[in-house]
Amino acid sequence: MKKNILVIYYSQTGQLEDIVKNVSKPFEDKKEEYEVTYYNIQLKTDFPFPWPSDVFFNTFPESYLQIPSEIHPPSSEILDKKYDLIIFGYQVWYLTPSIPIISFLKSGYAENLLKDTPVVTVSGTRNMWMLSQEKLKVYLKNLKAKLVGNIALVDRHDNYTSVLTILRWLTTGQKEKSGILPAAGVSYEEITGAGKYGEIIKKHFENNTLENLQPDLVKNGAVEIRPFLVRVEKVGNKIFTVWSNLIIKKKEKRPLLVKFFKVYLMAAIWIISPVVLIFHILLGPLFWAKRKKEKEYLQGIKLK
Ligand SMILES: Cc1cc2nc3c(=O)[nH]c(=O)nc-3n(C[C@H](O)[C@H](O)[C@H](O)COP(=O)(O)O)c2cc1C
Repeated sequence: MKKNILVIYYSQTGQLEDIVKNVSKPFEDKKEEYEVTYYNIQLKTDFPFPWPSDVFFNTFPESYLQIPSEIHPPSSEILDKKYDLIIFGYQVWYLTPSIPIISFLKSGYAENLLKDTPVVTVSGTRNMWMLSQEKLKVYLKNLKAKLVGNIALVDRHDNYTSVLTILRWLTTGQKEKSGILPAAGVSYEEITGAGKYGEIIKKHFENNTLENLQPDLVKNGAVEIRPFLVRVEKVGNKIFTVWSNLIIKKKEKRPLLVKFFKVYLMAAIWIISPVVLIFHILLGPLFWAKRKKEKEYLQGIKLK
């Protein structure tokens, strides 16, 4: 009997769609053994792409506070099957799994599909996904899914270059390089090469060794942890908690507060984060062992 593989994802620009389709290709290529079903999460009211700048920043409080929107129900064809493996594609919005992903996870359909099923998470982000993955791990645990692997593809340029290129990409639609700025997002080579991770997943799935999948994925470059970015994310989560709650509570002042948040965020990226970087480097020798342990944990799939 054929094994059923479900690929769940949402993608605005098509980047994550390309990644999950390439990861799934080794299964697609064996049509006699596998039936691959795609579930593209669709919101009743979707977000615009390219993003008008004010909409981009106005989406922050609901994103960070994980407030869901309504989704179209998955088709009965998708819901009626039991799956042997799920490839779960997601992107990060404001250090948190994106609103479409949260909307699915909170929808009631998620438990139906994910319960008791091995799940491999696949993300395509700028570079700050680590603590978002921790948030996702909690959802998966509560939905009784079995997280068996994680692939995190990122923009490998330095943090500041990737901020400039992603803002250009998300607000104008231009991903390609321009002037001195390189192309935005995950590189073309990594997107097209994502099939190699699919091969690794397939190998462990067929050999019944999914418990060894994550170390194999890590060995093959599926997850890169930059300790400095983990620090920035930790600080970012604290600051975002304050800003998001403030904006949600002060409804009548929301447009003004969102404008302040935008200015604050830019200052945090360009002024505060270099200061954090200097301290991070200076304190390196003191915290070496702690950071190594944390890196190993974040590369893995366990939940503390
Ligand atoms: C509103 C918004 C916020 C984002 N915040 C983050 C973030 O906190 N960390 C990150 O690494 N990428 C962030 N990204 C980039 C996305 O994770 C993703 O790489 C990009 O939007 C392309 O995804 P797509 O496959 O949906 O087209 C953000 C994107 C959007 C639209």
